[in-house]
Amino acid sequence: MNSGVKTIHLRVMVGSEEFLLETRPGEYRSLMALLYDRVYIDGFGECRGMGRCGTCRVFIDGDPATLTGMDRNEVSTLTKAGTEGEGVRLSCQILVDEHLDGRTVTVLGEE
Ligand code: FES
Repeated sequence: MNSGVKTIHLRVMVGSEEFLLETRPGEYRSLMALLYDRVYIDGFGECRGMGRCGTCRVFIDGDPATLTGMDRNEVSTLTKAGTEGEGVRLSCQILVDEHLDGRTVTVLGEE
């Protein structure tokens, strides 16, 4: 049995639309870059991953502790947007690795 995840499967919800995506670890520099490339979302990822605009906000199901850690910039951008909470993250700060496999990502975007 091979222990390393070679393919990452993600379910992405944008409003009532569902997208089933596959990628590999390291194919994209962040979850935002993957969503930006594969799913058209109006006004998404405006600062291109600087962690400042908050337009790339997502909710990720499962254990938040297994995701990429949050830095101060991300905490402050989420607080400003009024949406801090377990599982709510800036997708530009999330690495695409095996921890994302099998999870559901709900795009929150700009509100
Ligand atoms: S792309 Fe702007 S905060 Fe993530």
